[in-house]
Amino acid sequence: MQGVLKKVWMCKNSFIVTIDGPAGSGKSTVAKLLSEKDGFFHIDTGAIYRAVGFLFKGNPTKDDIENLHLEFYKNSKLTIMYNGKDMEGLIRSESVGFYASKCAKLSYVRDFVNQKAKDIAINGKFVIDGRDCGSVIFPDADLKIFLTAKIDERAKRRAKEINGNMDKIKKDIILRDMQDEKRNIAPLIRPKDAIEIDSTDMDIESEYLLIKKLIKEKYEDYNS
Ligand code: DC
Repeated sequence: MQGVLKKVWMCKNSFIVTIDGPAGSGKSTVAKLLSEKDGFFHIDTGAIYRAVGFLFKGNPTKDDIENLHLEFYKNSKLTIMYNGKDMEGLIRSESVGFYASKCAKLSYVRDFVNQKAKDIAINGKFVIDGRDCGSVIFPDADLKIFLTAKIDERAKRRAKEINGNMDKIKKDIILRDMQDEKRNIAPLIRPKDAIEIDSTDMDIESEYLLIKKLIKEKYEDYNS
């Protein structure tokens, strides 16, 4: 079965790297570097949950999702537009993160996000980050990373990123992690075949170089 799935990806000519992990572990930061320096197309699945969370404050109905017209543009990165407006500037706060995590419990929201990610990741090199990218969306990904860091370090990074209060952010991400780990559908888990990296004492450059080295090994296999 594994072999058959692998063939499907290869037919589509995609090389898929997934990076899963808790809030603030640096998934998107390292994925952005892989995109800028190595030509990977970055799909931030959390951004799609955030867009849904922002629009419906955490409580979309099935009808809301069926009628939702988000537009996705593949420029140098994935741009999510709603009513002609780029959503990036609206979705990065911790409160939107909380709404996103609430929406993420709903199966119809998860189906919507998973389908978008699968539709986009065709023909090319992709790095896809989130909570269930290696466990559910791309179970046959070429390389799976599970990125973690101690809670204080994660809170510090998020506080710097969004210019917020570290103690408040720490409480918020503990709550969000709990919600993401305890939900019934596609909870945050380390996929069995993922390589775990604890980035607590690593700077972003060493994290990037380590992941790049792992990718290089897999890419040689993939091309052989
Ligand atoms: O990666 P992020 O912090 O931007 O994600 C926001 C929320 O979206 C996260 O708390 C849970 C949800 N999410 C998810 O359930 N599955 C994913 N693959 C990505 C995000």
